[in-house]
Amino acid sequence: QAALPAGYTARALRLSDYDAGFLDCLRVLTTVGEISKEAFTERYNWMAKNDSYYLLVIEDASNEKPVIVGTGALIVERKFIHSLGLVGHIEDIAVAKDQQGKKLGLRLIQALDFVAEKVGCYKTILDCSEANEGFYVKCGFRRAGLEMAHYY
Ligand code: ACO
Repeated sequence: QAALPAGYTARALRLSDYDAGFLDCLRVLTTVGEISKEAFTERYNWMAKNDSYYLLVIEDASNEKPVIVGTGALIVERKFIHSLGLVGHIEDIAVAKDQQGKKLGLRLIQALDFVAEKVGCYKTILDCSEANEGFYVKCGFRRAGLEMAHYY
């Protein structure tokens, strides 16, 4: 497993990360919208009691105010097929622009992959753009299938 730079920690998302730039970190990925602390708390609590959501963050605590510099999620899907098999879905991987290239993304994927295997998933899948294929190949993934979407 890749080591994190000094002063950086990987851990589960906390409610207090709302004030440490968690949503700003996600903005490198896509539109996040304006989310109030109340709405964030409600969604966080729903995910926490759901028992299938593993949200990780990487925190840079080397400055006075700790900042979330990376995040990623694993959602564990419970199936009937494959004898009640479990499938891991990796979602919403984001590393702050000025922190990219320090292996933080790799570290996040390794950690989520570790959790998926540990909880008993028989595979982990994700969707990404062609531009990110090389990153996921370096993380041990390979191209499989074809994504389709229906937006509403
Ligand atoms: N194409 C090819 N190789 C790449 C790419 C890329 N786009 N990005 C990183 N790599 C390589 C690195 O060079 C490194 O290779 P090395 O081990 O030979 O040096 C290896 O992959 C690991 O790179 P990291 O330093 O861990 O990558 P980083 O921390 O910058 O994170 C990430 C990569 C997550 C794609 C980041 O650039 C990012 O947040 N981008 C914007 C948001 C985004 O696109 N997220 C992914 C969406 S898909 C999803 O969420 C399922």
